[in-house]
Amino acid sequence: MSFVLRQTAAVLRKGARVLEKCADLQKKIVQKVMTNYDMMTSLDEPYYAQQYLYWILAACKEKYPKENPRVLDLGCGQGRLAIPLAQWATQGQVIGVDFTPAAITCAKQYAVQKKVENINFYQSDILEYIKSIPENAFDIVMMTEVTFFMPEYKTVIQQLHNILKPDGMFIGAFWSQYYRLLQCIKNRCWDGAKTIMDRKEGYWGDNPAWFSWDTAQGVFDMLRDFDFSNIKLRGIGIASGIEGDSLSSIVQPSHLMKEEQEKLMKIEISLAEKYVDCGRYILAIAEKNT
Ligand SMILES: C[S@@+](CC[C@H](N)C(=O)[O-])C[C@H]1O[C@@H](n2cnc3c(N)ncnc32)[C@H](O)[C@@H]1O
Repeated sequence: MSFVLRQTAAVLRKGARVLEKCADLQKKIVQKVMTNYDMMTSLDEPYYAQQYLYWILAACKEKYPKENPRVLDLGCGQGRLAIPLAQWATQGQVIGVDFTPAAITCAKQYAVQKKVENINFYQSDILEYIKSIPENAFDIVMMTEVTFFMPEYKTVIQQLHNILKPDGMFIGAFWSQYYRLLQCIKNRCWDGAKTIMDRKEGYWGDNPAWFSWDTAQGVFDMLRDFDFSNIKLRGIGIASGIEGDSLSSIVQPSHLMKEEQEKLMKIEISLAEKYVDCGRYILAIAEKNT
């Protein structure tokens, strides 16, 4: 019996080491990508930031007319959404957290350049950071475009109930299954297409990184199961894309003149609720059940 127990323990230890290695590799890949990709200045990301902010600020203004929420932005990158939120929340406070050192350095510089003082950025792993937060500390927790390459994202969303004040708001943006499927088809990556259709997370194509993706219904069900209500879903970028995306062959916002870009924005916003699944990302805005 003790032999069996020793063997089982050895197998478990080996499994844990493999998992640690995978987590380490994932972290290195994500950090490398985000060190070389500034979402504040790259060609199309500011357009999508504006689209996110259309929905996010509308929800915030309705719920916090005194402009005073405490906001936590998990995986804030270079502060593309955190800084404009702090500019709006004149009586509130925003904290941005990200484990990519270069992203945090940029975020701090942008906040100084824009003279935004009610914001702080910290370099940390999200999982570590949320352990240190007292209960009911924030009105709003954001996590946009993070879950698709964060294997532990469900654990984090589940734990948000402790961090959020009663009636607090969660804002998340998830990779859409449909949009990624189009990408596989565009690249004639048929194995990848099968993975995207059959599963909701894992390794896709020959990419060494782990990804997750979902449908609007899947995001809705997950948030409802984690005890959120009043869940609103919107597709972000339902008819366009950045370089390499499936729908970039229809239009890349940065290739348009300002007036045409505004027209595209109006179209994407007016159809965002009807065609949620077609978005590059699925934006979810939900409230904690009290
Ligand atoms: C695609 S960017 C999105 C940035 C920002 N939320 C936005 O929408 O502009 C994702 C960010 O999440 C960060 N990230 C991913 N996993 C993380 C983790 N476990 N801990 C901290 N940051 C993480 C990455 O470093 C990256 O800056």
